[in-house]
Amino acid sequence: MAETRWEEILEPWSRLVTVRVLGRPFQVPENNLLLRGFQYLAPERVPYGDFCWNAQCFNCRCLLRRGGAETSVLACQTVAREGDELLEVSPEVEQVLRDVLRAPTP
Ligand code: FES
Repeated sequence: MAETRWEEILEPWSRLVTVRVLGRPFQVPENNLLLRGFQYLAPERVPYGDFCWNAQCFNCRCLLRRGGAETSVLACQTVAREGDELLEVSPEVEQVLRDVLRAPTP
């Protein structure tokens, strides 16, 4: 399997931020879209997921809690921030994160 060239994929970042997905904490690169964060967590699955990456398919829709407010967002259009909580994710997102979400907590 080809190695992921993160420097070509990710926006510049210097630290990881913690976001919760369906109640589980994960670390993803700051200054990057949530969908890129998902790719960071599951690099072998997200590129093959059914995602347009440009706000047309809506397959990346998630329910985000940020700063006390809950909003439906597109993960391909929303930059991850420290403390983000994804309360619901689309079936497509859940599928590509399936192994990550099931992995034992370290
Ligand atoms: S990936 Fe298609 S709308 Fe986000």
